[in-house]
Amino acid sequence: MSDAPRLRVGVLASGRGSNLRAILSGVEARRVRAEVVVVLSDRSGAGALDIARDHGVEALVLDPTLHPGREGYDQALIALLEERRVELVCLAGYMRILRPVFVRHFEGRLLNIHPALLPAFPGLHAQRQALEHGVRIAGATVHFVDEGVDTGPIVLQAAVPVRQDDTEASLSDRILAEEHRIYPEAIRLFAEGRLRLEDRHVRILEEP
Ligand code: GAR
Repeated sequence: MSDAPRLRVGVLASGRGSNLRAILSGVEARRVRAEVVVVLSDRSGAGALDIARDHGVEALVLDPTLHPGREGYDQALIALLEERRVELVCLAGYMRILRPVFVRHFEGRLLNIHPALLPAFPGLHAQRQALEHGVRIAGATVHFVDEGVDTGPIVLQAAVPVRQDDTEASLSDRILAEEHRIYPEAIRLFAEGRLRLEDRHVRILEEP
């Protein structure tokens, strides 16, 4: 890998942080030309914060109850990310809906991972929705975030079979393994300047 500057990534996470860990693995193995400069969470108990600290990454909690209004909260998030000159924001199990002010600020530089083959099953409990619907194929999607819920331009997807005896837990595990593969891959493509947004389509450019 060349000595070109590494992309400055900020990760927003509310939960256990397994996607964060996968991203850090890709970065530390130098498969992804990026560095995670900060992990921000709305929950002080988020496992993602411990993972960040274990990897020497700054970990901050922004307590929603201390910020007046959701827009004020997102403005504070923007300020923290800008202070650290973050170039790409990755949502990794971040469970708050971002306000338009945030989405517009980071337009084209804001990725999310969702445990479904979008546009099927947006929102909460995607794996449960898939099981209840009776689909045979489920999966994961990395997408740019727009102002809708899980509606933005799709970067990468991976499919997994749904088995007759699947539970929400077993299906979630199978999907999660794919999440851990495609999220670092999407960040790698972004960092290499190979994602071009054309309206709502994402063109993946050939390796130079
Ligand atoms: C992941 O399955 C991610 O796709 C999902 O939350 C989980 C977080 O796990 N995100 C959403 O449902 C967003 N709508 P993690 O904390 O272990 O990365």
